[in-house]
Amino acid sequence: MSELQYMSGFGNEFATEALPGALPQGQNSPQKCAYGLYAEQISGTAFTAPRAHNRRTWMYRIRPAVVHGRFARIDNGKMLSHFDAIEANPNQMRWSPQPMPAEATDFIAGWTTMAGNGSPESQTGLAVHLYAANADMGQRFFYNADGELLIVPQAGRLHIATELGRLDVAPQEICVIPRGVRFQVSLPDGQARGYICENFGAHLRLPDLGVIGSNGLANPRDFQTPVAAWEDRAGDFTLVAKMGGNLWAASIGHSPLDVVAWHGNMAPYKYDLRHFNTIGSISYDHPDPSIFLVLQSPSNTPGVDVIDFVIFPPRWLAAENTFRPPWFHRNIAAEFMGLIHGEYDAKADGFVPGGASLHNTMSGHGPDAATFEKASNISTATPHKVADTMAFMFESCNMMKATPHATQSAQLQADYAQCWQSIQKHFNPDQA
Ligand SMILES: [Fe+2]
Repeated sequence: MSELQYMSGFGNEFATEALPGALPQGQNSPQKCAYGLYAEQISGTAFTAPRAHNRRTWMYRIRPAVVHGRFARIDNGKMLSHFDAIEANPNQMRWSPQPMPAEATDFIAGWTTMAGNGSPESQTGLAVHLYAANADMGQRFFYNADGELLIVPQAGRLHIATELGRLDVAPQEICVIPRGVRFQVSLPDGQARGYICENFGAHLRLPDLGVIGSNGLANPRDFQTPVAAWEDRAGDFTLVAKMGGNLWAASIGHSPLDVVAWHGNMAPYKYDLRHFNTIGSISYDHPDPSIFLVLQSPSNTPGVDVIDFVIFPPRWLAAENTFRPPWFHRNIAAEFMGLIHGEYDAKADGFVPGGASLHNTMSGHGPDAATFEKASNISTATPHKVADTMAFMFESCNMMKATPHATQSAQLQADYAQCWQSIQKHFNPDQA
């Protein structure tokens, strides 16, 4: 089981030691560290980044990270990180859930890249992956030099052992693994499936709350980060690295999860989406979906995010004389959606847990015909609870390119746009 400490805020300094006195006091790199440990810093931002955004952690470990064999390229599978050569596609797209793999596939081997923009080299943009795995990583460890990973499990728990401690993450929870941090995933349920947002750019952070005030949406105290947990284990292991969109592998004769103590503000964390404090209208209409924002990765333009991670959790719909589902809309943003659990209130069918959809920049979308007719005629005199649901969106200010793996997928629903084609004309110029 994982042992966790509460974050109580992003950018906070944590200190944790699995052996008493392993953390040096008053300095970061003493001439000799306790227990014969090595001191090593990992930096996730420029050294000179403003204090509020600066991320770095000091590790006290059995061996420094440099002790491993030479990296050589391995197959990338269905993982993609470059999107410039792909044409943007204005079609609305939706996918049925991907099947679990037929052959033994670990967490790293089981990624299928669906869409993205930007690139690892430019340090801006994102890649959206699905993962499906049925094998523990076993002898393999992984780190991603290309970006941090926001992991959204849909089926099956993940046990994620990282350099900085262990996280158990179940569906309806999320976790974030910082760029460069080494980890290994095992599957307590034997198989697992979900979504990954790979963030090439600025660290995900909690949004400002403006007039909402000092509480609400995702509250900082509900985020958790692991405590130090080391292993001193020799073996014939492999360290897999993702860099510049490619996978590389090196032999390593010991577990790299050998950090006995650490302090800093760059660490994995997890969050239970069911803790989200949902804000909505109690009079009429409903606000823009930015009220459902959990985490954001800002661009260099104030108020414009390269990534918004948004959820649609259980909530009461109370607005009177209002079309209560999400309205028809077109956005400058590109929207990749997934469904973790239950039903989504804007679609009568076809969007099921494990499935996904992509509505690109300025592509029209909204409720399907059946949902429109129902919501247009239902009484709004009483509140209605959308219960038993958990949908999410990876939204980007830039258009997303759907990969060939996505547009040629057997799970692509060729008839998706049909859900709007039976929308009726109600216009009558003689009747207001
Ligand atoms: Fe939308």
